[in-house]
Amino acid sequence: SKPVTSIKLVLLGEAAVGKSSIVLRFVSDDFSENKEPTIGAAFLTQRVNINDHTVKFEIWDTAGQERFASLAPMYYRNAQAALVVYDVTKPQSFIKARHWVKELHEQASKNIIIALVGNKVDIVDENEEERKVAREEAEKLAEEEGLLFFETSAKTGANINEVFMGIGEKIPLK
Ligand code: GTP
Ligand code: MG
Repeated sequence: SKPVTSIKLVLLGEAAVGKSSIVLRFVSDDFSENKEPTIGAAFLTQRVNINDHTVKFEIWDTAGQERFASLAPMYYRNAQAALVVYDVTKPQSFIKARHWVKELHEQASKNIIIALVGNKVDIVDENEEERKVAREEAEKLAEEEGLLFFETSAKTGANINEVFMGIGEKIPLK
């Protein structure tokens, strides 16, 4: 059987940007229009094959609501990878994403792999006027801070697997 490498991964980002929906799409290839806000955090796993390896993602999906903010360090402290998620239609969520990137670089493991993820791109594909965070602005942040960068839709599934495969390809496999 193939060697299994576990990757501890945490999702961070403002409330309602679609963190749990990204996980639901990745783990169950499903979507819900009225997903409940996460309370505290949720833990899920998913296995994928990358080259000759099995990668087991151990996923901590944190709650974005402000009242849970003090819990986040417990989940990112031991993480090898993080998805910092914002909503491409919500400028405030991008400001929050910048703060998360800064906090991770200051407080998380030194070699953590971070992906910046602009979600809900399906809304922008329908109507470009809904876009409130320019792709170029996010790319610039990703380049400056050494992050992977993706625009995704948990609703359509666009680029969701690519985020996790991108992380998996950057982790040294045993
Ligand atoms: P918290 O758990 O409170 O931090 O929120 P969250 O970031 O986990 O967001 P959640 O996945 O619960 O999604 C919030 C809302 O956005 C739900 O109504 C989802 O259906 C919707 N949503 C999530 N992803 C997408 C997407 O890619 N496109 C669209 N159109 N809606 C989305
Ligand atoms: Mg959630």
